[in-house]
Amino acid sequence: MNNDVIQSTIDFAKCELAKYESGHDWYHTYRVWSVAKKIAEQEKADLFVVELAALLHDIADAKFHDGNEEIGSIVASKFLKLQNVSFEIIEKVVYIIRNISFKSEGIEKSKKTIEFQIVQDADRLDAIGAIGIARAFAFGGFKNHKIFDPEIPPALNMTKAEYKNHKSTSINHFYEKLLKLKNLMNTEAGRALALKRHKFLEKYLEQFFEEWNGL
Ligand code: ADP
Ligand code: NI
Repeated sequence: MNNDVIQSTIDFAKCELAKYESGHDWYHTYRVWSVAKKIAEQEKADLFVVELAALLHDIADAKFHDGNEEIGSIVASKFLKLQNVSFEIIEKVVYIIRNISFKSEGIEKSKKTIEFQIVQDADRLDAIGAIGIARAFAFGGFKNHKIFDPEIPPALNMTKAEYKNHKSTSINHFYEKLLKLKNLMNTEAGRALALKRHKFLEKYLEQFFEEWNGL
């Protein structure tokens, strides 16, 4: 029965995510799901909850719904009810979807369920490394942001409201968010993967600025 639910969740996610730009589409979800399963191998976690939460975590992103941060959990919970998933599992999945975004860093690690920690790590890993770089420029292009502008300094330490309305450059986003992610990992396996991807970001930036300066 669990396998059937996973399959229909995949179909649902593919269909729902078809309308999003390429950094946020089904393949982002597919990668988060794959990495989450990999991290879960190293942890004592409920794999069904991890998989469902990974597959549904971006189902209705607030960024594309006028900042409505509740809509994702409402859509996910409705869908899972229709699949006859138990109330207990739905609750665990919805808790993850509701709390996963970078903006809700507020929750202390000790209060996060292990399933949440895994999916959050997997989501963050997709924002760094080679894929993370591609996503940053895809998102920046979508928002009409510049690649880089030396006259726009990165805005560090923003409040939640400032972060949401902030118009910066894609390269600044590396300093505002991406380079911070490796220190925010929850799990050991997530941290190891993050370190490798973080080094790649640093190498990329080094070369970017060499080329920017005509070297
Ligand atoms: P999540 O997948 O956790 O929902 P976000 O919605 O914050 O992540 O961002 C989706 C992707 O777009 C990430 O790869 C992120 O780095 C990128 N992104 C978000 N905001 C910006 C920005 N201002 N400039 C460039 N890339 C961004
Ligand atoms: Ni995501």
